[in-house]
Amino acid sequence: MIRLPFVLVTLFIGLVIGLVSGTEGQAARKPLLRGELPEVELGERLFKDPRFSHAQDFSCVTCHFSPDLRRGYADFQARTPIPLRLEEMREGVNLPQFTVRNTTALIDLFWGEKPGSSNLLHSDGEFETPEALVVAGLTGRNMGWLASEKSAARLRIAEVARLYPEIVGEGGERLSDDEAIERVAGLISAYMRSLEFSKDEQGEFNGSPYDHFLGQNGLPPRPAAGESPKQYGERLMQEIESLERRGALKWVSEGPKGARFERHDQDFAFGARELEGLKIFYATESGRAIRGRNGVGNCATCHAPPAFTDFRFHNTGASQEEYDQVHGFGKFMTLAISRSLEPNSPSSQFAQIPDLAHPERADLGAWNQMGSHKPVLLAQMRETFCGVVPVFSSCSVAELDEASIGAFKTPTLRNLGHSGPYLHTGNRPSIAAAIQMYIPAGVLARRGLLRSADPEMAGVVLTGRDLAPLAAFVEALNEDYE
Ligand code: HEC
Ligand code: HEC
Repeated sequence: MIRLPFVLVTLFIGLVIGLVSGTEGQAARKPLLRGELPEVELGERLFKDPRFSHAQDFSCVTCHFSPDLRRGYADFQARTPIPLRLEEMREGVNLPQFTVRNTTALIDLFWGEKPGSSNLLHSDGEFETPEALVVAGLTGRNMGWLASEKSAARLRIAEVARLYPEIVGEGGERLSDDEAIERVAGLISAYMRSLEFSKDEQGEFNGSPYDHFLGQNGLPPRPAAGESPKQYGERLMQEIESLERRGALKWVSEGPKGARFERHDQDFAFGARELEGLKIFYATESGRAIRGRNGVGNCATCHAPPAFTDFRFHNTGASQEEYDQVHGFGKFMTLAISRSLEPNSPSSQFAQIPDLAHPERADLGAWNQMGSHKPVLLAQMRETFCGVVPVFSSCSVAELDEASIGAFKTPTLRNLGHSGPYLHTGNRPSIAAAIQMYIPAGVLARRGLLRSADPEMAGVVLTGRDLAPLAAFVEALNEDYE
């Protein structure tokens, strides 16, 4: 209740942005941008159209702000207020007021997808395709619809679609509701697939100071075929050291638009500090990379270059940390969790924000999606964990079940300057604060005190000294995304 005025204010801001962007989208067609398909442009208008939502006040862009607001399709909230249904609240129904998780950025979600293997969407891997996500999104709580209103919400999609002559075409009236919904889902998905970071003709990332640093020094932009991120990191550092020894390493002090970024408050630069961060980032326990007093980040296994994500699911301890902050240190370790693959599991108690009054509530991430109806997720978990470490030697379903507790999709580290606050909890206001989580998490993982920790977490050995260079490195992955 105390939060209500804040919610209303935020809702109001959301409303204004939604409406403004909505009307903008419905105005005269913009000329097509170079290389952009008409579907993409139409998809963008649908992405910004608030008429799909229950009270015609929310659209995708209400939460996924566009780049002109210096956002990578994320907002500024830790958790985003969702449309209130005042009539239900008056009747005493206890509806959630915020999204369970921090709103994610949407750029390059589909990078590196191979035929037959999709990058799962949402940080728990709930959706196999963007089309499924769009239909669920347009008919769900984020758009103000209650669970009992699915058919009304579907009808609304079809009604709104019919207002677009480009969608219904000449035989508009004969288009069935299902067909109209399918087209809307396809168009918004085409738009999301078009949101990509800058790349050169060879398809290599080229928008950030880090990319310029690699290019300028003739360094390999990505792992070779069959090379693991760790092996690539070692090779990269050997090549960098050889350039350093010869005094031939070149720093970056200017980008395409000058010495400063246009859309980030920072220099477009990659210098000694960023390089120090790079070395910590790629350093692994076993590799030759451990040097000096710097820490071992072991970051690249999960934040695999060049996308700086493996699009897979790992437990870094973020959920445990938030749960223990509410209930006391060590409490997450003893929380009763059933098998996700058992009948009647998962239960919605494990896709919730921790709450002092409800100790049974936690956010277990991918655990919620492991049921037999998600074979793709199960296959990906196998790919990630089986045979990699002794812990998962037999790779039984029980082991994978355990590994899925608190596992979230690795977010890209590109352009994080436009998507704070960070983590699925949104409880880290800055990049350095997000990285800071890894100091205690590494210690706890080595001591066996991080429940279902990803095996790679034990290899993260950092101290406070490492934070500034690591943050400088991650900031050098920003770009002027337009
Ligand atoms: C009320 C705020 C809100 C609205 C409205 C909203 N989203 Fe989201 N979106 C979120 C949140 C929060 C997440 C993170 C959910 C998670 O990870 O579990 C998310 C995640 C996503 C993702 C997954 C990204 C990833 O990394 O896997 C996609 C794609 C997405 N939204 C697209 C859309 C589209 C398309 C619409 C409009 C149909 C939409 N969203 C409307 C809040 C919103
Ligand atoms: C075991 C895999 C793994 C390792 C190792 C790892 N990360 Fe992460 N990282 C993740 C996952 C998964 C998340 C999302 C966690 C969540 O929200 O629950 C994440 C989140 C982040 C975020 C926040 C991004 C955002 O959009 O919210 C930053 C920054 C980050 N990691 C940096 C690093 C750095 C730097 C290192 C090395 C010191 C590192 N990570 C090591 C998997 C990993």
